[in-house]
Amino acid sequence: MCGIIGAVAQRDVVDVLLAGLRCLEYRGYDSAGLIVVNSQGQSSRLRRVGKVSNLVCAAAKTMLLGETGIAHTRWATHGQPEEINAHPHVSTNIAVVHNGIIENHELLRKNLQDEGYTFVSETDTEVIAHLVNWEQKKGGSLLEVVQRVVLHLHGTYGMVILDIYFPGILIAARSGSPLVIGCGRGENFIVSDPMALFPLTRFFLYLEEGDIAQISCNDIIIIDRHSNVVQRRKIESHLEYDSYDKGVYTHYMQKEIYEQPQVIQNILAYRCKNGLISFDELDDSAYALLKKAQHIKIVACGTSYHSAMVAHYWWESLAKVSCDVEIASEFRYRQSVVRENSLLITLSQSGETADTLAALRLSKQLGYLGSLSICNVASSSLVRESDFALMTNAGIEVSVASTKSFTTQLVLLLLLVTKFCSLKDKQSLVEQDTLESLEKLPTYMTQVLLQDILFSELAKELSEKNHVVFLGRGDHYPIAMEGALKLKEISYIHAEAYAAGELKHGPLALIDTNIPVIILAPNNTLLPKLKSNIEEVRARGGLLYILTDTNSGFVNSERVRIIFLPHLKDVIAPIVYVLPLQLLSYYVAVRKGTDLDKPRNLAKSVTVE
Ligand code: G6P
Repeated sequence: MCGIIGAVAQRDVVDVLLAGLRCLEYRGYDSAGLIVVNSQGQSSRLRRVGKVSNLVCAAAKTMLLGETGIAHTRWATHGQPEEINAHPHVSTNIAVVHNGIIENHELLRKNLQDEGYTFVSETDTEVIAHLVNWEQKKGGSLLEVVQRVVLHLHGTYGMVILDIYFPGILIAARSGSPLVIGCGRGENFIVSDPMALFPLTRFFLYLEEGDIAQISCNDIIIIDRHSNVVQRRKIESHLEYDSYDKGVYTHYMQKEIYEQPQVIQNILAYRCKNGLISFDELDDSAYALLKKAQHIKIVACGTSYHSAMVAHYWWESLAKVSCDVEIASEFRYRQSVVRENSLLITLSQSGETADTLAALRLSKQLGYLGSLSICNVASSSLVRESDFALMTNAGIEVSVASTKSFTTQLVLLLLLVTKFCSLKDKQSLVEQDTLESLEKLPTYMTQVLLQDILFSELAKELSEKNHVVFLGRGDHYPIAMEGALKLKEISYIHAEAYAAGELKHGPLALIDTNIPVIILAPNNTLLPKLKSNIEEVRARGGLLYILTDTNSGFVNSERVRIIFLPHLKDVIAPIVYVLPLQLLSYYVAVRKGTDLDKPRNLAKSVTVE
């Protein structure tokens, strides 16, 4: 996690750094800091606990000037979110900002203490600052010094180093955490996400694993992991920047929930033409690989894991191909057996989630047929390192809690499964059926969102509860899980999801008159089974909220609230049923007054494991 920005210019860079940090805040917001140096070698460092806005306020009251600088917004790993632990960390003349984890920091700290260095923070990053200072004493340019330093580091880093005595130069090193150079005119930048530089430049050089770069106003030198000087391709970004505007909405999450019908309409218009699904990103070799696949393995984290779980049902029921889904952090550390002709699919909004990226890298050693990434960020590490990638085109998602990323992933997955059916069997009618169902999806989504007053009312009751249970069956079980995750993330109410058939195996013991139970009950073949589960909860006094079709036979009664949704074809039902859960969580969080776009302890892009 953590956001990094560095700048070398011929003008004061304080505002550039602060504006960049605001953009990077989705990566962490426990504390923030910066250091700037002017051409006379005078430096000033400022750090504050909490959001970037605290740093911005402090900067307005402080004399800060400098043409070279580095800045950081932190998601704490080692050491509490206190000012002393905020970056940049300094060792005499060396200042460092760092994203990642230095796993051997304790040993390095001990060695440096033996050399006479005093540590003031609990962070692993301070070790890097002292280590650079120590290595510098042996001579060489800062670039050469950093080349020697990284040999001592175990773990992950995206770091930027500044020598206060020699301003005008930044050294950046990447191993496990992304860094991108932004190329300006007579000024250059380094950043952990190019979006933070959009107001300044659209031209970027993506550092690769093991790269170390020396960046000055007019020059960029990149050394690869084998110590060769290399050129990285300059890429122009065409991404829209205006998504950072909340428009008429109070919160980004609210905006992103309401954007979903339009975003999905756009995806369908772009991907589905003349009754056929087209994936412009996939070439003949990608299709050949898909055709060969006899097993699908999907790895993901968080909300992306939940969409993978829904797709698991589709792969097996529609495409009749075996599929298994695993949390990336589990997959990467266990010994797994790869089935013959397995295709690995990684799912990620950001494309930078450390565990998902590690899972992809591991898969390359394990004998998978190949890798396909489904992602929202075209320039991300995951997309660049996968054999093939499909973009979800959700647009920028700012809120930490994913909403439109989830539904767009589902749409992409459904299109992919459907395309797979046609590839395997030219006579398959699945493509026609799916396209017919998807056609009306944006309309159904809009109908649900129009009921927002109802969800805001229901949120009144839920916001007073301490625990909530979500139930679903089949492809609505992962939707129940996503509903529980949303509620936990932004309202801090304890929520659990269960496959309704599992109730008797434990969760029923939780049910009493204080526990609301939210049940996803679309009118499908599992409804009779679900009705029995509902009776089991009702008999124990549970307070029921049932999301269902108009014609599924439920009626409101004491302690049972029915929320009617449109009647839907099975295949699109999960994509619609998640919307009420997003709205409920949103309104509960609004009532509780949480900082719902930036919930405590969380970050949008989890770039450390
Ligand atoms: C974090 C975010 C979640 C997201 C998860 C996976 O936990 O807060 O919203 O689902 O990471 O992120 P990814 O970018 O890989 O989808």
